Amino acid sequence: MSFFQNNQNAIGLDISDLTLRAVQFKGQGRGLAFEGYGQIDVPPGIIKNGEILEPRTVSDLIKRMISRPSFGRFSTKNVIASLPERRSFIKALEIPQIDSQQLEVTIRQEMSQHVPFSADEIYLDWQMFKSGASADTSRVLIGATPKSIVDSYIAALEDADLRPVSLVIESMAIAYALIPPNAEKNTSAMILDIGLNRTSFLVFDQGAVRFSASSKVISGSAMTRLIAQKLSLSNDQAEEAKRLCGLDPTQGKAVIPKTLMPAIDQLAKQIEKFLQYYKTHVPQANEISQIILAGGGANLKNLTKVLSEKLGRKVVLGNPWCQFEHLQKTKVIPSQQYLSQPTSFGLGLLGLANLSRKKK
Ligand SMILES: Nc1ncnc2c1ncn2[C@@H]1O[C@H](COP(=O)(O)OP(=O)(O)OP(=O)(O)O)[C@@H](O)[C@H]1O
Ligand SMILES: [Mg+2]
Repeated sequence: MSFFQNNQNAIGLDISDLTLRAVQFKGQGRGLAFEGYGQIDVPPGIIKNGEILEPRTVSDLIKRMISRPSFGRFSTKNVIASLPERRSFIKALEIPQIDSQQLEVTIRQEMSQHVPFSADEIYLDWQMFKSGASADTSRVLIGATPKSIVDSYIAALEDADLRPVSLVIESMAIAYALIPPNAEKNTSAMILDIGLNRTSFLVFDQGAVRFSASSKVISGSAMTRLIAQKLSLSNDQAEEAKRLCGLDPTQGKAVIPKTLMPAIDQLAKQIEKFLQYYKTHVPQANEISQIILAGGGANLKNLTKVLSEKLGRKVVLGNPWCQFEHLQKTKVIPSQQYLSQPTSFGLGLLGLANLSRKKK
């Protein structure tokens, strides 16, 4: 779901609190290739929980990243950027079948009951599905982001001399990267993006993201903090121990796995809670057949195995290369960063003008 549509080739730009990532693809199918790739650190406090606090610094960083890519070059000023999951809302609704003029009014009214903003404080975008639960209803998927956030993102991009052609709620980009267009029609999954300061949970079902939520309690940095506190280590030492041992019981007498277990239990509980919510609150929800893990935090050793045992469900690592395995060999991106890429890859794919998915 994007806030405006344009069919031009564009750079995909993932705006995270401490990292910006930009991808431009070219070609298609087996001929798909990187035109450019760039990544740059953002000093703490410039973007906080998805909110741009220092627009000038963000524009300068974007400019620097675009003019000095780590691979190739960026050949367009068009950009598709992500909107922060934590500041956005996705809602699947069942509404009476009405004419298109009435539709917007109805959607605005409905949405104002579900988000903590008044109707004139948010931008909305929606997608209609052919049929609803009954003959006289339609199913609609709605995305909403506060105007203040959208406007600040557009201003930062324009100040960086880029032309924003679309803004996409992050979960949409992630699902676009991780669920290939030729996936089985009945593919359903909960995708986790275990990031720096939050974990996002999205449900992909019936060809679309139908639910998303974020938790600040569970995150990569929260796991590091837990290790630091419990074992009286510095943050850097705790981060190193986390990456080295993860949940592998054969490492260091299993001290790190034991220390992290309360956080993993919490994560498992949260997954079940959101799956239950999805089943009971979202119209025509299907049983979710698998959990896909992404985000840097998904690199935690043994996480898929441990979660799968706790949940009694299929848990797999997401594959950001699933739509272009041949590019993995180009080594444009270090392998330890693969799981952090779904957002930028999804946006980059959306930025390809001639996507087969768009032609359908
Ligand atoms: N090998 C590893 N084992 C465990 N955790 C890891 C490993 N590598 C990275 N991480 C964790 O991943 C987290 C960062 O995730 P990620 O790169 O997805 O965040 P981001 O995209 O920059 O931020 P955002 O949360 O805004 O999306 C950090 O907390 C880091 O400790
Ligand atoms: Mg991220």
